[in-house]
Amino acid sequence: MRLRIRNIRKNFKTKNGSVCALDNINLDIQPGEFVCLVGPSGCGKSTLLNIMAGLEKQDSGRIKVDGKIGLMFQEPALFPWLKVKDNVGFGLKIKKLEKQKQEKFIDAHLKMVHLQNFAESYPHELSGGMKQRVALARTLILNPDILLMDEPFAALDAQTREILYKELQNIWQLTKKTVVFVTHNVREAVCLGDRVVVFSARPGRIKKIFDVDLSRPRDLGNLELIKMSNKIMDVLKSEIKEL
Ligand SMILES: Nc1ncnc2c1ncn2[C@@H]1O[C@H](COP(=O)(O)OP(=O)(O)O)[C@@H](O)[C@H]1O
Ligand SMILES: [Mg+2]
Repeated sequence: MRLRIRNIRKNFKTKNGSVCALDNINLDIQPGEFVCLVGPSGCGKSTLLNIMAGLEKQDSGRIKVDGKIGLMFQEPALFPWLKVKDNVGFGLKIKKLEKQKQEKFIDAHLKMVHLQNFAESYPHELSGGMKQRVALARTLILNPDILLMDEPFAALDAQTREILYKELQNIWQLTKKTVVFVTHNVREAVCLGDRVVVFSARPGRIKKIFDVDLSRPRDLGNLELIKMSNKIMDVLKSEIKEL
């Protein structure tokens, strides 16, 4: 087991009292699995991811994480004064890896995200999709076992997102990482996930878990994928009505 989550609860104290963000969450994630978390805005998806990452502490319950974690968020947060290759290699520099090895790793990871021709560019010269690819390469270069992604493609246009779905599927099949991917986009979740975990509206509970048994690589326009997405969307819509 890569991640074992047992009876996790989390409340936040606010000016208007206490908000229950997560209520009794249980989830097991196997090595190499791609799990998507979907749910209405404010249902606690990011809170759960942050607890997995150790950035936030649960009030009660247990979480066991087996492996090294890599993080990716909606904002790529690149260093604007560093070239693409130096952004990608930043973590290696900190680890004081030998220069030649650094360059080899950086090359390989730039190739993986199809940015080998942009090694010398600066972040402001890149599109949004390219910046997220740099962020992905920067995370992967540290060889995490578990990749935690919080709406990494939410700010991108539809065409760019589709290209990145393909690339992420390829990279995941190649690297066999365990991925936990938060999104409010159901089709995105069905396109990427082995399982789609649907959260209920506040307080965040797991409402239903769907297994996605479609062959890969998956295409957003695939009829089976659309059917499955509609099924999940029906479950989700009933949640949003209850808000
Ligand atoms: N640091 C915080 N302080 C107070 N309330 C918070 C904090 N972080 C999240 N919340 C609240 O917890 C709930 C879940 O938030 P979040 O996990 O960000 O939801 P999601 O990612 O599903 O949109 C929301 O009601 C949000 O307002
Ligand atoms: Mg969120």
